Amino acid sequence: MDRHNVIPQHIAIIMDGNGRWAKQRGKDRSEGHFAGMMALKQTVMAAAQKGVKWLTVYAFSTENWGRPQAEVDALMELVCKGVEMNTPDLAAQGVRVQVIGDRSRFSDIVNASLNRIESQTAMGEIMTLVLALNYSSRSELTMAVQQIARRVAAGELQADAISEQTISQSLYTAAMPDPDLIIRTSGEYRLSNFLMWQASYAEFYFTDTLWPDFGEEELGKAIEAYNTRDRRYGLVK
Ligand code: FPP
Repeated sequence: MDRHNVIPQHIAIIMDGNGRWAKQRGKDRSEGHFAGMMALKQTVMAAAQKGVKWLTVYAFSTENWGRPQAEVDALMELVCKGVEMNTPDLAAQGVRVQVIGDRSRFSDIVNASLNRIESQTAMGEIMTLVLALNYSSRSELTMAVQQIARRVAAGELQADAISEQTISQSLYTAAMPDPDLIIRTSGEYRLSNFLMWQASYAEFYFTDTLWPDFGEEELGKAIEAYNTRDRRYGLVK
């Protein structure tokens, strides 16, 4: 097998298994999410240290609103707490935070937290941490289609001139490179409405490890596996 020693420029993670982690310990699901936030912190620091430039994490999907209200409330509170607890360290480490997703459904308090972490880390040049919050690929693509249709209707764009680039540039991720590696924890093998357009040429890594147990070592294993892959982009070597 072809082996290299490359650090993926952009890693995206579906952080799954917080609930099962909590259940195994007889704890409340919200404690699993708190442990998940600690794992995220460790993973962010490890990724930045390894030279990853972009790390995107699926923190709250549009489908997650359907969870029990108490769990949704706990997750929203965790976002605010996470911002408060981690902004100074992220800024000090040169990690810039950006949010993708539809923010219109978040409370003013949550939106204020998100604006704060984005503005207070905006100068970070070591790595960008992208938090996908109230995000789903289908809603992102729907929004992009609406935006493009409005431009066509206004006569700014010819329908035949719509290219892959037009679509990429209409997504939340317009200014970001596509992910090279997508990791999903907890033994699930689905994309769950995450970065469907952007994942076209991504490599996938699945692990049985539950998200709260993920960290530097697991990240290293995922990168090692990535280095055994032969990325051909549909071409012949
Ligand atoms: C999936 O586990 C995890 C989530 C829905 C939430 C992920 C959020 C965090 C890790 C915290 C991030 C915090 C900030 C501040 C961005 P699950 O609940 O689906 O687990 P289960 O499948 O075992 O029930």
